[in-house]
Amino acid sequence: MSPPKLQIIIGSTRPGRRGPAIAAWFHALALKHPGFDTELVDLAEVGLPLLDEPHPPQRGRYEHEHSRRWSETVSAADAYVFVVPEYNHSFNAATKNALDYLAREWRGKPVAFVGYGGVAAGARAVQALVPVVTALGMVPLSGAVHIPFVRLSFTEDGRFEPAPGLDDSATGLLDDLLRIAMGRPATPVR
Ligand SMILES: Cc1cc2nc3c(=O)[nH]c(=O)nc-3n(C[C@H](O)[C@H](O)[C@H](O)COP(=O)(O)O)c2cc1C
Repeated sequence: MSPPKLQIIIGSTRPGRRGPAIAAWFHALALKHPGFDTELVDLAEVGLPLLDEPHPPQRGRYEHEHSRRWSETVSAADAYVFVVPEYNHSFNAATKNALDYLAREWRGKPVAFVGYGGVAAGARAVQALVPVVTALGMVPLSGAVHIPFVRLSFTEDGRFEPAPGLDDSATGLLDDLLRIAMGRPATPVR
């Protein structure tokens, strides 16, 4: 049996964003983690316009090539990790738009979050995402990785330096996600 495919989705799209460096760190850990076949997906590269499909996504009748490509990309994965910033006490609009584009492609699949921001460490972004992915029929993990005061985890030349303990937190998240992706229950409390 081939390993489950994990997509690590970079949610932020603005120039100068910190998301890609954080996602690269998480991706490197995921590549070392036995069990997943992992790929990075960058919403800035996917380049979806604001939802412009005339039909509800539940029907899977896409008129635009960008929607069909996005559908194919997402369909290929068995589990997802969204790397999401906190914007105005929620998650960013590009992430919501990317989720809204599709329906069946997400359904029934486990999802976890790496949230980052200021004092709230992206917690409000992650909290706001949970009902959205639940509405899509996804299975959100109860735990998440949080990065507080994200600016302080970056060197002057733009490298992400995870705080002590963050690697363990990310590996624990991958362990739980893999268990769910393989149809086994996650550990109850971490
Ligand atoms: C539009 C905007 C709104 C923000 N709102 C919040 C916020 O409500 N809470 C917070 O902790 N950080 C907030 N921040 C700080 C971001 O979380 C931080 O700048 C982070 O690096 C943004 O992710 P990005 O660099 O990948 O775009 C905000 C940043 C932006 C650009």
